[in-house]
Amino acid sequence: MDDDEGGMYAWRNPWFRRSLVSLVALAVVSILVGFVWLPSVHADYTAGGIWAAICRAAGVPSSWGDKSAPKEGQRSTDVVLDRSMARAAAPDAVGRGATLALNCTMCHGAQGMSMSNAPNLAGQYPEVVIKQLHDYKTGKRSSAIMEALSARLSEQDINDLAAYFASLPKARTAPTTYDETLPALVRVGAPLRNVAPCIACHGGVDQKFGAPWLEGMPKDYLTSQLKAFAKGERHNDPEAQMRNMARTMTPKEIEEVSTFYARKAPPAQ
Ligand code: HEC
Ligand code: HEC
Repeated sequence: MDDDEGGMYAWRNPWFRRSLVSLVALAVVSILVGFVWLPSVHADYTAGGIWAAICRAAGVPSSWGDKSAPKEGQRSTDVVLDRSMARAAAPDAVGRGATLALNCTMCHGAQGMSMSNAPNLAGQYPEVVIKQLHDYKTGKRSSAIMEALSARLSEQDINDLAAYFASLPKARTAPTTYDETLPALVRVGAPLRNVAPCIACHGGVDQKFGAPWLEGMPKDYLTSQLKAFAKGERHNDPEAQMRNMARTMTPKEIEEVSTFYARKAPPAQ
């Protein structure tokens, strides 16, 4: 029997035909789900394009080495985080920042501890305040109030404000340290859903540069941010790291982690 007859023989076999047809059908269905249905139900699913979505799913960067690759307007932020943002500031910077911060006390509290639902700024890492103010200023993060206020701030103003808030007595709940009683998402994340433990980035075990200090924040602020990430309404997180995690969280989980982080406890020593 030569090869050709072998091929014919295989095709005449009904089992072979059936498995080939199901394979093709399966491929078509997966393509429809992945490229048509998912993008249509999830506005943010194809953020940055199909290619970026595939790369995100596979966990590889969508552009190797080419920093200019994402198109203008699609980038989540214009801020390039730099260790120098966290350098101890000169005393006169803190003084200038304190004066500027008089415009902020109405909502963020006299000592950076909010009495309303605005985020606490006391002790917040300076690179976080710098990045967020720039993101409001460039419209990468939206908030009617903060976009208007940050539009008037110069680079120098932003740096001085960040220095001032970082210098405030840290009347905040100390960063979470590992302990068996922490909520599961905070402690171990949800590996099957690609959710890393919160403490791996937000202090406690490790503090990822640019990840905000969450402990003691108003609970409503935390829930609103997680919901905004999940819906893609807040999209200034680099590589969509918060969006991808928040999207997989149930309302109950969002409630649980927000309650946990909003707890009031003794400040850091
Ligand atoms: C009228 C109230 C109000 C005033 C005044 C105000 N803020 Fe805000 N600020 C807010 C609210 C509300 C948010 C959260 C907005 C959101 O959901 O993005 C916020 C968010 C921020 C954030 C982001 C914090 C984080 O954890 O992500 C920073 C930084 C900030 N404000 C700095 C300032 C500075 C500096 C000033 C003074 C120049 C100021 N704000 C004045 C209400 C205010
Ligand atoms: C891989 C690191 C990483 C992990 C894990 C992570 N985060 Fe974040 N998170 C960040 C970064 C970075 C930001 C700041 C994004 C930006 O630049 O706006 C952020 C921002 C936030 C904010 C907004 C805070 C503010 O002040 O505006 C909340 C709330 C938050 N994360 C909650 C969580 C929770 C809850 C978990 C665990 C389920 C978690 N994060 C896990 C990196 C992480």
